[in-house]
Amino acid sequence: MCGIVGYAGPRAQAPSSRPVDVALQGLARLEYRGYDSAGVAVIDDGSLRVTKRAGKLANLREALEGGAETTGQVSIAHTRWATHGGPTDVNAHPHQGGRQGEIAVVHNGIIENFAGLRAELEADGFSFLSETDSEAAAHLVAREMEGVGDLTEAMRRAAASLEGAFTLLAVHQDAPDTVVAARRNSPLVVGLGEGENFLGSDVAAFVDSTKEALEIGQDQVVTVAADEVRIIDFDGTEVTDAKRYTIEWDAAAAQKGGYDSFMAKEIHEQAGAVADTLLGRLENGSLKLDEMDIDPSVLRSIDKIVVVACGTAANAGAVAKYAIEHWCRIPTEVELAHEFRYRDPVVTEKTLVVAISQSGETMDTLMAVRHAREQGAKVIALCNTRGSTIPRESDAALYLHVGPEIAVASTKAYLGQIAACYLLGLFLAQTRGNLYPDEIAALMGDLEQIPDQIQQVLDSSAQVEKLAQDMKDVSSVLFLGRHVGYPTAMEGALKLKEIAYIHAEGFAAGELKHGPIALVEEGQPVFVIVPSPNGRHSLHSKVVSNIQEVRARGARTLVIAEEGDEAVLPYADEVIWVPATRTLFAALLTVIPLQIFSCELATAKGLDVDQPRNLAKSVTVE
Ligand code: AGP
Repeated sequence: MCGIVGYAGPRAQAPSSRPVDVALQGLARLEYRGYDSAGVAVIDDGSLRVTKRAGKLANLREALEGGAETTGQVSIAHTRWATHGGPTDVNAHPHQGGRQGEIAVVHNGIIENFAGLRAELEADGFSFLSETDSEAAAHLVAREMEGVGDLTEAMRRAAASLEGAFTLLAVHQDAPDTVVAARRNSPLVVGLGEGENFLGSDVAAFVDSTKEALEIGQDQVVTVAADEVRIIDFDGTEVTDAKRYTIEWDAAAAQKGGYDSFMAKEIHEQAGAVADTLLGRLENGSLKLDEMDIDPSVLRSIDKIVVVACGTAANAGAVAKYAIEHWCRIPTEVELAHEFRYRDPVVTEKTLVVAISQSGETMDTLMAVRHAREQGAKVIALCNTRGSTIPRESDAALYLHVGPEIAVASTKAYLGQIAACYLLGLFLAQTRGNLYPDEIAALMGDLEQIPDQIQQVLDSSAQVEKLAQDMKDVSSVLFLGRHVGYPTAMEGALKLKEIAYIHAEGFAAGELKHGPIALVEEGQPVFVIVPSPNGRHSLHSKVVSNIQEVRARGARTLVIAEEGDEAVLPYADEVIWVPATRTLFAALLTVIPLQIFSCELATAKGLDVDQPRNLAKSVTVE
């Protein structure tokens, strides 16, 4: 959701790299988060200049052309995803606050007590122009500044009186060298440059300028100048132990690299991504997860696992259930994170909660993590983004290492999440003695074959691409699967909905006869994910029967099956072959044709594949 950039440095004189340019470059890198308006504020010759426009960054760039000369040293900028008030120029950030408009503020999150604050500030003579909650924060910081004359202290006082979730960045014309920021329940990271410093809602905002970053903790205020970064907490106490780290992501990894879309590129990176998730986990025949610092005795005592996640991450969690219950014999529930805490779940000190999140900032998942910890549960986060809030607030973290995922539709992170779930399941089985070392080694051996098998699926993508192009005008697609094929069907349907805007449903194939089969009419496309014919024969034959059921009612059957599985041939209108692997591990292969199908179909329809309508990459509101 909203992207935030801040800059303090000496670039004033360099053409194309003035503070306003640094801010725009940062916003461009954050575009993937999703937005519907954008704006920037600079201090030019002692005066604050704010430019903002509804729509894409191009509109803002056009508005800035020929203007916004900046001899100053700071900038703040924002891409907004509308919550309070529509996506208009006026509602776009930065918002100016103060009696003379002397301060500019950008905000990510939701200020819950904004209505009362607005009434109070209006009574005190402050004029509001927008419908946003954020403008109240701008006036509030300005009013505090009138009293204390120091921007850091003004921000601290204002932030301490706000309720809800926020990252705030402010510049004031009386403090032309500094940007001051505050955060609560919303992401903020500092980039440490040589004689210049950056702020961002994530490291993508500045990764092309510096790889050194500083984590900003909960309820902290950070003041950034060209050669200084100072952090205090909301009580005013100096923070001296902020965690510094080096960003592993390469700036080039965030470029499209010749593909039509980031989504296409990320799909084609999946072999390497899964290899990176698995890399270096096995040492002397024993699984090692270094980020796992929960005492083994605690892991041995757990009697239930609850996986909390949203969207695609929840589908990865559904795969985890099959693996963990099978290998570890621990009852495992998968819960949409936003439903978790509201149903008063049974969580005890013997519950292990597994939070899965690519971004590590999804508010629904974060709230579930907090609720679980309040009940005494241990929480393990499976995340992609280092330094993000969910792993920081968990007892242990297992990182995916799949690199930056830019497209709103998650693909390589999904595979990384599933691979990380397998690692966690095997680690628990090892720690609790459910599997013998040779069994774990055999499973790891097969898992390590998967990246090559992913590459084989990717190398034969032409068939699915052609299918997608031919089907670009369909209005509805169904997806069926059993066992790990069920979450795969759910994920296939989610991908098609979110980027191609086509009605799609994923079903457990066994559920078909209980209702959904009524949807099947002549020509209805139905993808069916068929499990391996080896190992669990009854599972395989049940799915083959499901193909027959829908075909008998006129469906066009698009079957994803293991190479050599001739049993599907009589009932399939089209077969997409994937290499043979264990039934459990097939979840890493069978979803790939479905990802390619959605990506190619949305591209053929001329849609914005990477930034689908109404969606944001990182959903930082509940
Ligand atoms: C995936 O394609 C979606 N855009 C979305 O469902 C996403 O997986 C969900 O919002 C969770 O995000 P997270 O992994 O960053 O927590």
